[in-house]
Amino acid sequence: MNWQEEDLKYIWHPCSQMKDYEELPPIVIERASGINLYDVDGNCYKDVISSWWCNLLGHCNPRINSAVKNQIDKLEHVIFANFTHKTAITLCQKLIEVLPEGLCKFNFADNGSASVEMAMKMSFQYHQQTGNVQKKRFMALSDAYHGETIGALSVGACDLYSEIYKPILMDVIRVQGPDCFRCPYGLTRDNCSCECFEKAEKTFEQYGNETCAMLVEPLLQGSAGMKVYPSLYLKKLRGLCDKYDVHLIADEIATGYGRTGKMFAFEHAGVSPDIMCLSKGLTGGYMPMSICVTTQKIYDAFYDDYIKGKAFLHSHTYAGNPLACSAAIEVLNILKDEQIIPKAVEKSKYFNNIINDKFLPLKNVGEVRHIGLINAIEIVKDKGTKQPFDSRLRLGYQIYKKALKRGVLLRPLGDVIYFNPPLVIQKEDMDFVTDVAKECMTEVLNSL
Ligand SMILES: Cc1ncc(COP(=O)(O)O)c(C=O)c1O
Repeated sequence: MNWQEEDLKYIWHPCSQMKDYEELPPIVIERASGINLYDVDGNCYKDVISSWWCNLLGHCNPRINSAVKNQIDKLEHVIFANFTHKTAITLCQKLIEVLPEGLCKFNFADNGSASVEMAMKMSFQYHQQTGNVQKKRFMALSDAYHGETIGALSVGACDLYSEIYKPILMDVIRVQGPDCFRCPYGLTRDNCSCECFEKAEKTFEQYGNETCAMLVEPLLQGSAGMKVYPSLYLKKLRGLCDKYDVHLIADEIATGYGRTGKMFAFEHAGVSPDIMCLSKGLTGGYMPMSICVTTQKIYDAFYDDYIKGKAFLHSHTYAGNPLACSAAIEVLNILKDEQIIPKAVEKSKYFNNIINDKFLPLKNVGEVRHIGLINAIEIVKDKGTKQPFDSRLRLGYQIYKKALKRGVLLRPLGDVIYFNPPLVIQKEDMDFVTDVAKECMTEVLNSL
């Protein structure tokens, strides 16, 4: 059987121009282990993007495998309204131990975007039920990404994904957010005090009273090109949200679970959000699950006699799926028992250093940015002016194709080549994948 041909007969792949598959057909993966993916012909690909940032502890991790196998013979799924199960309860008990202070009520969904939708509805309904009926709008940062469903796409600001849908999206208030590479104040990360926060202050002054929530990807705007910004910004945002009675919604879908060097990115700022969205690393990349976790205060605003109509009548069929919960419990066990996050922080020093050494000297590398084990390299046409290349050249995509042939799965965001590997990556793999990425980048840039 030609699996690639069969695939293309039936499958419409996500986030793809299917015509590109004429030249680069889908790679048929048969098995995986650690950071390695193996195709049907036995070729190996180093998954240094954690399969869309979700694989946390390596593919086919023996401990997670066995947790899911144990669970499947006991209970695969059960309706989560009026029924519950020990696996979900245990997961919440364990999560409370690691979450920022105050987050204690868990509402389950089955993908990141769904948890963002849930957070938005929760915040909106809270304000409607607590006498702030004028609070009907959402705020989010420029360059934000929060998912692909209509609500999540509305708060997002990546035109690549949302432009065509604008006529059917919500009217979201946009805060001009931090841009540390092309700082309009002419500052650098070392000498900045978040001067750009004045934009947020002005926007809140104007729209704070009509806003129910501000959504933010803490410290790292992933889809925007792994844009990293200081924790001070989050701390200031917490103050501003308190001042205007606006919920602070932390989208930790991509940043949670040790990706930024701490369990949650918000920890760097020493403040707590009102609502936090979790997915991706939550199940180690095993199962589609997400959680929207919030405070007692928000929960209480929904708690009343049924007849008062205050309940949060939001549901997903697969909410609280036991298989996903069993994987999520084991992820937390592994993080703790094997001290994965402190070890990742140690490894990140090595990774950051070799990436700086290999890429910074290249003539078209505008910036190398790091947070935790995430490293991004932005290539630009002109290093001095930071002018980007024409996006139609698809330089990132060309680098991607070359790297695949050499066994490395990069999936650049435009002209930003990045690594966001499983936290268990070893030094030899760091050496190999950075060598391959450098060679491919050099070849592509030299061909211009
Ligand atoms: C910050 C952030 N929010 C939301 C999402 C959407 O999650 P999902 O793809 O599971 O819907 C993503 C996915 O990449 C993300 O990075």
